[in-house]
Amino acid sequence: MEVVILPGSKQIGALAADAIEALLRRKPDAVLGLATGSSPLPVYDELARRHEQAGLDFSRAQGFALDEYVGLEHGHPQSYREVIRREFTDRVNIAPENVHSPDGSAADIPSACQAYEDAITAAGGVDLQLLGVGTDGHIGFNEPGSSLASRTRIKSLIEQTRRDNARFFKNIHDVPHHVITQGLGTIMEARHVVLIATGAQKAQAVRDLVEGPVAAICAASVLQMHPHVTVLVDEAAASSLRLADYYRHTYDNKPAWQGL
Ligand code: GLP
Repeated sequence: MEVVILPGSKQIGALAADAIEALLRRKPDAVLGLATGSSPLPVYDELARRHEQAGLDFSRAQGFALDEYVGLEHGHPQSYREVIRREFTDRVNIAPENVHSPDGSAADIPSACQAYEDAITAAGGVDLQLLGVGTDGHIGFNEPGSSLASRTRIKSLIEQTRRDNARFFKNIHDVPHHVITQGLGTIMEARHVVLIATGAQKAQAVRDLVEGPVAAICAASVLQMHPHVTVLVDEAAASSLRLADYYRHTYDNKPAWQGL
């Protein structure tokens, strides 16, 4: 796991965009794993800018969202399908039919979850998965207690997550209780995982996921078992890390050929 501590969101957005740009140049039909929440927004802004100003090409890329609320009507502005479209895919030249998300309005949820797993497999798997992290250490919507081997399935949200996400709705009562999320086992199959966390409210989750025990109480800690994870954090989110100086030193002296 590589931890990179950066001054702020702008630098984080640029570095993550560098990794995605390098991937697309190497593999124009790359499969991108897309996350919602505020953490990846600087990455989407930077990718949209590079598309507009430098012609960064997404025409052969595919995208898979991490998760979706259950029960929001089709086209609801806070459904993650709509959020991803608005914040990212409408701003670049990715084909709309190449952008996938779990079907939160399916009558048969288990079949919809299996179909989503099958679609990821059929696309050849995710090349680069962007992730944020919840204050309780969730990735996607894999709340504490999630099986570390889980696949795409329905989950119930913890009340803290509903409170955290209430800012996107009129009030907390409108935040769904159920979601579909890629499982931890699903996320672990992505070839490169880039997790972004900013702000002091993420400091504990970052410490738990990077330096704590691998345990379902912090779902993101499973990433310690992944061979290629990059954690991009600002100073505030890094403020509880015991080995922060080591991570800084390592990054400052990293061989230039290594990339992320
Ligand atoms: C939601 C999403 C997660 C995201 C988390 C943190 O719960 N399902 O994928 O990482 O929020 O969001 P933010 O980046 O806004 O703090």
